[in-house]
Amino acid sequence: MSSLAGSGPWLALLLALMLSLVAADCECGFVQDFPAEETGHGDGHADGRLLFTNMMESKFFELRNISQDGDWKRQQYNVSARAGRGEYGKAFALKNVYTIAPDGHGENVDADAGPGDGIALVVGSTLVDEAIPVAELASARKDMYFGSYRAGMKLTPVNGTCAAFFWYFNDTQEIDMEFLSREFDASKKLYPVNLVIQSEASRQAGYDAAKTGTFKVVNLTFDPTVGFHEYRFDYLPNRVLFYADSQLLAEMNGTSVPSGPGHIILQHWSNGNPKWSGGPPKQDAIMTVSYVKAYFNSSDEQLQSSFADSCRKARDDDAASGGSGRVCAIPDVTASNASTGGTFFNTSDPNQPSSGGGTDDGDSGAVHLSSTPTMAAALLLMVVLLAYS
Ligand SMILES: *[C@@H]1O[C@H](CO)[C@@H](O)[C@H](O)[C@H]1NC(C)=O
Ligand SMILES: *[C@@H]1O[C@H](CO)[C@@H](O)[C@H](O)[C@H]1NC(C)=O
Ligand SMILES: *[C@@H]1O[C@H](CO)[C@@H](O)[C@H](O)[C@H]1NC(C)=O
Ligand SMILES: *[C@@H]1O[C@H](CO)[C@@H](O)[C@H](O)[C@H]1NC(C)=O
Ligand SMILES: *[C@@H]1O[C@H](CO)[C@@H](O)[C@H](O)[C@H]1NC(C)=O
Ligand SMILES: *[C@@H]1O[C@H](CO)[C@@H](O)[C@H](O)[C@H]1NC(C)=O
Ligand SMILES: *[C@@H]1O[C@H](CO)[C@@H](O)[C@H](O)[C@H]1NC(C)=O
Ligand SMILES: *[C@@H]1O[C@H](CO)[C@@H](O)[C@H](O)[C@H]1NC(C)=O
Ligand SMILES: *[C@@H]1O[C@H](CO)[C@@H](O)[C@H](O)[C@H]1NC(C)=O
Repeated sequence: MSSLAGSGPWLALLLALMLSLVAADCECGFVQDFPAEETGHGDGHADGRLLFTNMMESKFFELRNISQDGDWKRQQYNVSARAGRGEYGKAFALKNVYTIAPDGHGENVDADAGPGDGIALVVGSTLVDEAIPVAELASARKDMYFGSYRAGMKLTPVNGTCAAFFWYFNDTQEIDMEFLSREFDASKKLYPVNLVIQSEASRQAGYDAAKTGTFKVVNLTFDPTVGFHEYRFDYLPNRVLFYADSQLLAEMNGTSVPSGPGHIILQHWSNGNPKWSGGPPKQDAIMTVSYVKAYFNSSDEQLQSSFADSCRKARDDDAASGGSGRVCAIPDVTASNASTGGTFFNTSDPNQPSSGGGTDDGDSGAVHLSSTPTMAAALLLMVVLLAYS
């Protein structure tokens, strides 16, 4: 057996190696390949590739308690019928957003959804003081600028709700994917999705999206109420691309495209407006979100410069060891893996938030990814080296 004194230097070296491995891989960002026909002009994708410097990945299907996830905030507020342009008010309440834990011991176990499905957002059928009980979950960070925003979702077949996955700055800077359950017609296999950019033009049209050029209805080729599918929008300079299961649904471009940072929101609501959400639903309606993956550039200048620094440092280290890269390619998700989102760059346990990256002050979280395989390799190496020392 080697003495502790003799293995000290090795241990120090290996510890340093392990730490660098833990923080490895994506220091220079996340890239998304762009099929040639989808490549337009503008910044960020000159060579058919888009580069994003930050990420936020959330494994809702593994999460046990949403109130312990610092990346997301359940919302509570009331909107009157008048303010919400509906026949009823909306009562956003914390209890309408809950986790359905893998072991069935989540915050709410009597949901219709199966154990481990993800986070449930419920629209209630029983009015509370003339308001419909509704649900919202919003990202805590608001520095989310150009990016690719993705969510695995299963929608409700119950008539009378609007399920939305959107990016928001204010009412005239908003990118939306909205699903109206009253439009789902199983007998005709009709499942439309409403794609909307809210802009100054839509404000002038009284927020009637249909009266603007940035409103498109696209028929999905699958029933979104029976399984999980990935819904995605890429918010880029002067253009927005919408996808389902990595298939392009539509593109919008021009002056209505927002031009600043915002946050992302999951919402399930109804206000009785027969022209939009319809409802109230006749029974409680549940939308389930299995995961969210966001790859984006931050508007925060400190995060931008710390990204540049750690990328440069990682590349210098690589040059010394003969490696290269440090850019991670974002894999597509299809219907086959939308219930769990397939592989994640962030391998931290979502139920141990402090063990994951991104919690240090001034840290983007984009680079500190725990990496179980490299960690195991480092440990193995350590054992082997100790045995020989
Ligand atoms: C704008 O979007 C339309 C499709 O809506 C597309 O045909 C056109 O090529 C796009 N223009 C640019 C400059 O990307
Ligand atoms: C994101 O930021 C990086 C680093 O500044 C830049 O190279 C890239 O083009 C930006 N991506 C987009 C889509 O604007
Ligand atoms: C919303 O309204 C309900 C019913 O009137 C009330 O119980 C609740 O406290 C209100 N919530 C907020 C956040 O004001
Ligand atoms: C979830 O976490 C919150 C805040 O830490 C706690 O108050 C609540 O009891 C937890 N819920 C469950 C079901 O463990
Ligand atoms: C949204 O923000 C933009 C940019 O700050 C501003 O010009 C616009 O008036 C705002 N819209 C609303 C509805 O406040
Ligand atoms: C949903 O309910 C509305 C209002 O009752 C009705 O007009 C609509 O046809 C229903 N949708 C479907 C798909 O049945
Ligand atoms: C969606 O399908 C319906 C029914 O077949 C059809 O009337 C409508 O035009 C389709 N919408 C689009 C955008 O293709
Ligand atoms: C999802 O599955 C497809 C194959 O159907 C695979 O190509 C892709 O890499 C998977 N995505 C992720 C994120 O694991
Ligand atoms: C990685 O996951 C952990 C655990 O869920 C979370 O605390 C952390 O913020 C995540 N980091 C990023 C960059 O997504």
